[in-house]
Amino acid sequence: MQNTDAVQEKPLTVPSYSKWTDEAVMKFTPNEFMQALYHRAKDIGDDLYDSRKYEFIKLEPEVFKDALITYMRRRAWSEWYFGTVAQARQITLLPDNQVDLKLRLARQIRDEVRHYDVFAQQLKRFGSEPRISEFVLPEILVQMQKIQMEVETASELAAANQFAGEIVLSSMTDLETSIFKIFFDKELMDAVIDIENDEPPHIANGRDMVLLFCDTVDHRKRLAIAQEKYLRAMMQLHFTEIVKLGCRRVAPLPVFD
Ligand SMILES: [Fe+2]
Ligand SMILES: [Fe+2]
Repeated sequence: MQNTDAVQEKPLTVPSYSKWTDEAVMKFTPNEFMQALYHRAKDIGDDLYDSRKYEFIKLEPEVFKDALITYMRRRAWSEWYFGTVAQARQITLLPDNQVDLKLRLARQIRDEVRHYDVFAQQLKRFGSEPRISEFVLPEILVQMQKIQMEVETASELAAANQFAGEIVLSSMTDLETSIFKIFFDKELMDAVIDIENDEPPHIANGRDMVLLFCDTVDHRKRLAIAQEKYLRAMMQLHFTEIVKLGCRRVAPLPVFD
């Protein structure tokens, strides 16, 4: 059923800081720039996951179950690969004096592997193969992995990981009109809430790595580019997954400008 009240004609437009002039980018304090990146990702998450932006289509139960399993298998894969490799690399790249941050990243790796286990349990409940070794990656996920692999600093990696994907995912549970609250049964939603309870410290890891790299125009632009590339690809993947669960988008997707 379509809720016409909230349908917007114009897309949500988020700032493309990578295209801003040097002067404009440096007008922010480091803290303001970090917050600007946070809000850009959160605004995208709130828009992308808002059930009022979609019209629902009744699917055959088996078709819905297949789409849900595909979504959970992709999430299980992402918890493992986006939650361990990037963080291990950040621990390696950070300077020796960042002991506290390195320990917090090690704790994040532990959490993310647990998140994989949570999705694996849910997959078993739905009678699906839970092993990520058996998961065939969609092309866009390969691209997202590449965006994280091609950056050279812990901070840019944070901009394309903890300070991008993890912020967007927080809208799954903290957005009142989250579309996942409609598609998921109680047990799956509770599992996602359990996972999301671990996320604030992970986003804080991202925040602190972003803040370490906010001093020059070059650094700020590199952070903006890494986050923007990842968010664009992520939006495409998540939009495709949501639609397959039984809906069509009635508002344009967010755009960068
Ligand atoms: Fe996670
Ligand atoms: Fe996380």
